[in-house]
Amino acid sequence: MLIDSHAHLTDRRLISDLEEILNRAGEAEVERIVTVGADPADNRAVAKLVRKAPGVFGTVGVHPHDAKAVTQGVLAEMAELATEERIVAIGETGLDFYRDLSPRDRQEMAFVQQIRLASELDLPLVVHSRDAHQRTLEILERESGGAARGVMHCFSGDRAIADRVLALGMYIGIAGPVTYPNAEDLREIVRHVPLERLMVETDCPYLAPQKYRGKRNEPAYVMYVAEAVAQAKDLRFDEVARVTSHNARDLFGLARGE
Ligand code: NI
Repeated sequence: MLIDSHAHLTDRRLISDLEEILNRAGEAEVERIVTVGADPADNRAVAKLVRKAPGVFGTVGVHPHDAKAVTQGVLAEMAELATEERIVAIGETGLDFYRDLSPRDRQEMAFVQQIRLASELDLPLVVHSRDAHQRTLEILERESGGAARGVMHCFSGDRAIADRVLALGMYIGIAGPVTYPNAEDLREIVRHVPLERLMVETDCPYLAPQKYRGKRNEPAYVMYVAEAVAQAKDLRFDEVARVTSHNARDLFGLARGE
């Protein structure tokens, strides 16, 4: 049993043959999928999907790329969608200073607004940070008063950043790059972080594991991430599957509505 803790099933590259994708996920023993909202229209699509797809839970958020889109109206709609039983977190939100598709001050404002919304709604956060770890952590530490509920998804920081994420009480999400031959630094992080604080994810359709690198990713492939984590930590696959699933269930409350 596995949980893909971060997927984008509403992406047009996946939604077109979603039924087969969900079947393959089932065959690969992926029993839960958290599909993550990235912009206002996507949030509506996520809410619609989780109403009808068994085993699929959702989040609502505005990705830093679209931070300019965050208005009071958008936040109000997110709060409204989040009242639905199978919407289990706010995000993805955070900072992306790699692509800088929204101005940095707008990204920071949208991030703070979503952290506060999650806290008001008592929901965990799905955080994206790319080339912005210092600032992301500063904001999380300041806004949360030192204790945050959430996951740093597709972790790409160093050991010091991992330690600050752990000190906040957050989980660390590991995605496909852990399977790449040159990702020894990330595997070193995986060895360093206790299994009790790790989750596995695909971030599909992006970031396919080595075996399918460059192709479309999908939830069934989360097993290759779990395999790489097991190998890095010298643990059994089953142990990694069991504990990371427990972690995802615990953070997102995935028993609800099933
Ligand atoms: Ni994502």
